[in-house]
Amino acid sequence: MNNPTLLSGIQPSGKLMIGNYLGVVKQWVTMQDEYNCLFPLVDLHAITVRQDPKLLRQRSYEFLSLYIACGLNPKKSTIFVQSHVPQHAQFSWILNCFTYMGELNRMTQFKDKSQKHASNINAGLYSYPVLMAADILLYQSDLVPVGEDQKQHLELCRNLAQRLNHEYATEEKPLLKMPDPYIPPKTSGGRIMALQDPTVKMSKSDTNEQNVIFLLDDPKTIEKKIKRCVTDSGSEITYDEKTKPGIANLLTIYSLITQQNIDEIVQSYQGKGYGYLKVDLAEALIEHLRPLQEKQKQLISDKAELDKILTRGAKAAQELAQKTLDTIHQKIGFI
Ligand code: AMP
Ligand code: TRP
Repeated sequence: MNNPTLLSGIQPSGKLMIGNYLGVVKQWVTMQDEYNCLFPLVDLHAITVRQDPKLLRQRSYEFLSLYIACGLNPKKSTIFVQSHVPQHAQFSWILNCFTYMGELNRMTQFKDKSQKHASNINAGLYSYPVLMAADILLYQSDLVPVGEDQKQHLELCRNLAQRLNHEYATEEKPLLKMPDPYIPPKTSGGRIMALQDPTVKMSKSDTNEQNVIFLLDDPKTIEKKIKRCVTDSGSEITYDEKTKPGIANLLTIYSLITQQNIDEIVQSYQGKGYGYLKVDLAEALIEHLRPLQEKQKQLISDKAELDKILTRGAKAAQELAQKTLDTIHQKIGFI
């Protein structure tokens, strides 16, 4: 089959939440039939900030089980752990030697993370986008679905592909495929906002859990978080990101969960206050997540089966990755 290749990764840190789900994982599920999909759990990226080893191990299994519960099919897609495929680190080193410090100095995520982790601004954090480029280019990926915040990293990746191709590719022997980012528009989940502050992004590692609906939150917790979330002044339900960012965010989430369009939802709440929307949204979320949570519980109880999936995934990924790496080694003169 000659389907185009799609690759996207998430760090197994924090806890998967509805922003990751609506913004990326749900899109992956629908793309599995048209693309050759690879989904690495990027644990090498995760250790750029200090991780508790026990928790990292636990999260890696948790993420895998949630991926499958959300609808990723390990028979169709290659799901694997980044550190199981040594070619990522190998290629990343080579790409480091083609990346200018000036390029990395411009990365806004590095600047943000350096502020957040001021006592541990390590070289890994700095060259993080280079490892990400290795993830993508190793598999000759055509499409990379990510949230808006990753756009800059994708641009660097494209620049690196172009740089290496310019230096080494020939017409008979192309080297690296130029990947395209796919960033879903805001109303289709590209940017779900925090519940207590709808002007900042919902984040899976937010220390204030009231900001976030995690995929494994129980019904009571979901109800409480939605009930207490910050809404805007006024009482009329309309979609306006500028003057009513809180309500706009709730409408976006509701629309994605119930697959109704936002205008229809706004119509159906004419004359009703915010409270009604909150009650209905909480219920819709609880019912949407219930089957997903049941499936996850079943999956996580069988680690042996999860390990089998990862072993298969790593083997398939290694074979593909080695092909690209062999060509690169030959081109740069390694014997
Ligand atoms: P992170 O949770 O930051 O590790 O990101 C994992 C993936 O989910 C990336 O592709 C992000 O762009 C995406 N993502 C993270 N937070 C959100 C959000 N609040 N809304 C939509 N997508 C998100
Ligand atoms: N940097 C991405 C993030 O934080 C995660 C990531 C690593 C990734 N490698 C990737 C995303 C390759 C897409 C493709 O969200």
